[in-house]
Amino acid sequence: MNADPYPTRRDRAAALLRAAGADALVCAPGRTLQYLTGLDEEPSERHFLLVVLADGDPALLVPELSGAQVRAGTDVADVRTWDDGDDPVGAVRALLADRDLREGRSLVDDRMWARFTTDLRAAAPAATWGLASEALAGLRIRKDPTEIAALRAAATVADAVVDDLRALGPDAVGRTEAELADWIEERLAVHGGDGVAFETIVGAGPNGARPHHRHGDREVRAGEPVVLDFGTRVDGYPSDQTRTLVFDGEPSAEYRAVHEVVREAQRAAVDAVEPGATAGSIDRAARAVIEAAGHGDAFVHRTGHGVGLDVHEEPYIVAGNDHVLEPGTVFSVEPGVYREGAFGCRIEDLVLVTDEGAERLNTTGRGWRCGGDD
Ligand code: CO
Repeated sequence: MNADPYPTRRDRAAALLRAAGADALVCAPGRTLQYLTGLDEEPSERHFLLVVLADGDPALLVPELSGAQVRAGTDVADVRTWDDGDDPVGAVRALLADRDLREGRSLVDDRMWARFTTDLRAAAPAATWGLASEALAGLRIRKDPTEIAALRAAATVADAVVDDLRALGPDAVGRTEAELADWIEERLAVHGGDGVAFETIVGAGPNGARPHHRHGDREVRAGEPVVLDFGTRVDGYPSDQTRTLVFDGEPSAEYRAVHEVVREAQRAAVDAVEPGATAGSIDRAARAVIEAAGHGDAFVHRTGHGVGLDVHEEPYIVAGNDHVLEPGTVFSVEPGVYREGAFGCRIEDLVLVTDEGAERLNTTGRGWRCGGDD
């Protein structure tokens, strides 16, 4: 980790609040709270709130049992606690009063549980409340060097496991999707990954045609493409890449042609990435290749999504999104073509927008062959 990034991030959040005319942001445990404090806290029934002011010092209100741990884990100086025997809404009311938030407009984290938003309204009935995304949707889009280092490290772990899968080759045939998913997760850990960033997808043959298929008891067969989409975390940040491999034998001519189209679409989209391009234009670049090949109807999802503390976050690489890409943004480029009842093909890499263009964070080969040089 380089210099503590959290005060800088909270200053940026405060500037965005001022620009939106809001007095404060209130967060519960989740990725935004983690981004602003470094505290990786599970949501629970106990009131745990961060208040970031447009003008003024931030404060945390946490359960007494977490007090010492929170004080040791964050640079936020004002950490208040409430006891299990106390009325938590009273503690929230006192904090809002102390920070002059009984009136005016404040924003709550979009993913805060309804229970806590209801208690905030009860604690400050004269205030108005909005969603953080009104002002802060762009807060986490540009990654700082700490984040980029972690995303790069996670991508390297995932790439190593793709290489392991290629080396497995014919030995994968006869294993079930679930067995292969277990194997992938073991290899991610061996290479230094921390758990899985999302449920591992192993879609063999026709199962690959369902983009949200996870893994089941179908066995991998020779000549059958297998969609492999998995991720782990390093220093809190996820990887997310997809390869579609044939572990042994030759796939159908139709599949080989589709794979080439998807690969070309992915290349065209990555080539279109540069500062100043819009998110929508990257989607268009991929889609144009797939439409020209006659597979437009089989590309049933957006081209990609931002990746940060959340595996899916802004910016979404989707038709009509006029968000302008800036250096430091990281997102996936993952076109796919899906043939119901037959196969799926998806190729995904994470891409970092640089000052000049783009850099792929995933660099392993993108072909379907195992043991080949692509
Ligand atoms: Co993805």
